[in-house]
Order: sequence, then C-alpha cells, then structure tokens
Amino acid sequence: MRAAVLRALGELPRCEDVQEPLLDEGEEVVHVTACPLTNLDRDRAAGTHFAAPAVLPAVCGSALAAGRLPDGTRVLFRSPGGTMAERAATRRAWCLPIPDGLDDALAAAVQNPGVAAWNALKWRAELRPGESVLVLGATGVAGQIAVQLAKHLGAGKVVAAGRNPRVLAALPALGADATVRLDQSDDALRHDLRDAAGGEDFDVVLDYLWGRPTEVFVSTLGFADMELRFSRTRLVQIGAMATPALRLPAQVLRSSGLEIMGSGTGNAPPPEVLARELGQTLDLLADGRLRMEIERVPLARVRHVWNLDQQGRRTVLIP
Ligand SMILES: NC(=O)c1ccc[n+]([C@@H]2O[C@H](COP(=O)([O-])OP(=O)(O)OC[C@H]3O[C@@H](n4cnc5c(N)ncnc54)[C@H](OP(=O)(O)O)[C@@H]3O)[C@@H](O)[C@H]2O)c1
Repeated sequence: MRAAVLRALGELPRCEDVQEPLLDEGEEVVHVTACPLTNLDRDRAAGTHFAAPAVLPAVCGSALAAGRLPDGTRVLFRSPGGTMAERAATRRAWCLPIPDGLDDALAAAVQNPGVAAWNALKWRAELRPGESVLVLGATGVAGQIAVQLAKHLGAGKVVAAGRNPRVLAALPALGADATVRLDQSDDALRHDLRDAAGGEDFDVVLDYLWGRPTEVFVSTLGFADMELRFSRTRLVQIGAMATPALRLPAQVLRSSGLEIMGSGTGNAPPPEVLARELGQTLDLLADGRLRMEIERVPLARVRHVWNLDQQGRRTVLIP
C-alpha cells in the first residue's frame, strides 16, 4: 500500500510503498479516506516537536483521520502507527462515528483545531458566559475555529488578531466583534490591542503564536500605580507559530492579573470529555454552525504540499 513515509528528521516525507499494517490483538484495519496535514505533523517531521518520531522510517500522520471500518462504519480514528496511508491499524475504542451527511475530509480536518480550541476555552481557561476573549493567530485554521467556538460557548466579546488580510476580513462573519492587524509596529499594535479591549483587560487570551505578538500583548497589561486590585487574564499557550520562546518582564506578573497556562498533551481532559467535545464539534460542523475551508490533495502529492502555507485552509490528504 502507499503511505507518506519520513526517512530522516528534517526531510520531506515521500509517498512510498510500505507493508500492510500489522495488527495486534483487538486491532482492525481501517481504510483511510481523508487525513489532515497539521503543523504538529510538520513539527514532528522536522524534529522540532517534543514528540518527534524516535524510530525511522515512520508513516506520518498524528491527528485523527477519517476512514471506513471493515463493517462499513465511517469513523474518525486514531492510529499510533501513522494515519497518512491507504490503510491503518486501529481499535474500536479509538474510533468515533462520523455523523451522517458530514463529509469525511471536513470531519478529519476539524478534529485537531476544534478539540484544541474547546480544551483551551473550557478545560484550561474555564471561560464563563459574557467574558472577553482575544485570539492571537486568529487567521490560522485553529484560530478561525477558536473564534467561532468562543462565541458558541458564550463569550461576550471576541477580538481576532492576525496578519492575512483576506482571512482577517472574513472573521467578523464568523463571529469576531473586532479584528486587529498584527503586521504593524509594536506601538501601533499595542494601541490597537488596548483599543479593542475597551478599557478593560481581556478575560481569556488564546495564543497560537508566542514570541513578538505575545510580548506586545503582555506589554498592554499592568497598572503603573500601587493601588490594590484584583484582575485576571488567563493566557492559554496553544501554539508557537511566531517564536518558541518569550521574554516576560517579571513586573507584569505582579502589576497585572496575568496567569499563563498551556493547553496540550500534558494537561488534556479525560477521554470522555475529549469525545464529548469532538462529538459536539462535529455536530456544529454538520449543521453549518461551524465553518472551515479545506483543500483536498492526493496523498501522492504529500511531498509537494508539505510546507505550503495554505493561508487559513487545511490541507487534507486523500489516499
Ligand atoms: N496545543 C494544541 O492542542 C494544538 C492544537 C492545534 C494547533 N496547535 C498549534 O497552533 C498553531 C496554529 O495552528 P494552525 O492550524 O492554526 O496553523 P495555520 O493554519 O498554519 O496558521 C498559522 C497561523 O500562524 C500565524 N503566523 C505564522 N507565523 C507568524 C508570525 N511570525 N507572526 C504572527 N503570526 C504568524 C499565521 O498568520 P497569517 O496567516 O495571518 O500570516 C496563522 O494565523 C500551530 O503551532 C499548531 O501546532 C496546537
């Protein structure tokens, strides 16, 4: 069968012939129909992610993919052996049915950004109805989903910050109350972030970028006096598209209510919560209350599209 194979960290995966998946006790073969290409896949293959593959060659694909079980059930499934292949090994316990009428490729594409946004908003930040949310990196696939889910989960005001003008202009239709351009001077960005906050600190910040945009945001916080106050801004670190490290002045943590936490594998909710979040995300997508753009690409072209900036669209590989 054909699969996207990584032979060395830092190289581009190639579509190659590989052995059929070997099944352990309790596993069955799933025929893969759609597999998203995420930044996690890119970072792991580049060797820059903490969970880069330890054994090579390896079949790529770490997000859930869509496929058909031997009895014909359409599912999103997990496969530790990699999902970017014509077939993969899975277990029923690792599968979630795809709702009728929902396209396989869309279902596969929404899982990673959908559950990530849900986890960050509800599980980590514990968003309450009416609270304000800033999304740093709102023009990415994950950021666009986060803007929509923040509104769905009852956020009062959602401010979307990004660079891509086409996507930024489309965000109000997805629920953003205001947009902020990140590609401007630090002073202008600081001014626009303060303006969008409307004289109060954001309650929740979803951060897909880190580095310079986050540093500028953090510099908008803090009171320059000795009054005793209580405030809380829960900044959830989700991705590091700008820079992997941050300069954080100590005084910001004393003069503001900034609380920084991450959202990822080390602090995930229990499996039943994840399954519920994913099920609700799929339902929202199926009835059109959640929108995302995807681009279907044949698996054979994996090498050519691996590092392509899809400008707010998710590449989905079709075996
Ligand atoms: N922790 C988790 O559970 C989890 C789950 C999903 C995603 N993530 C991570 O979240 C991040 C975003 O994922 P995604 O799927 O949205 O990626 P994506 O669709 O490729 O979007 C990338 C985003 O990063 C922005 N960006 C890239 N470089 C930048 C820079 N130097 N300065 C400012 N903005 C920059 C892009 O802005 P423009 O397009 O406007 O230029 C765009 O908004 C990735 O790091 C991903 O691994 C984490």
